[in-house]
Amino acid sequence: MKRNEKLITVLNSLLTDELTAINQYQIQSEIDENQGYGKLLQAIRKQELDETLQAERLIEQFIFQGGAPAVSYLNPMKMGETVLETIKNDKGDDCDKSLSTAYSDNN
Ligand SMILES: [Fe+2]
Repeated sequence: MKRNEKLITVLNSLLTDELTAINQYQIQSEIDENQGYGKLLQAIRKQELDETLQAERLIEQFIFQGGAPAVSYLNPMKMGETVLETIKNDKGDDCDKSLSTAYSDNN
């Protein structure tokens, strides 16, 4: 199967979004724990797990497509010093494009 370089580029962009989200949620969960937001901590850790599973799906697609996932890049983080600041800064803009959209746009 011939590699679809345009699709590989889109997959790398999506993977960068997922890896950024994982890191941001890891940091946010530590802030939540430190500031005593136990219920929020559990929700954030679930988000982190969801992002990890999404990243794994993307890596599976790289292997299927014969491409190499670029795992050394992150987008700028949108953290705050308090939980409220972090929530305000994080407008949930990771995963704007789904994997199915990436395929339909590049095939
Ligand atoms: Fe995601």
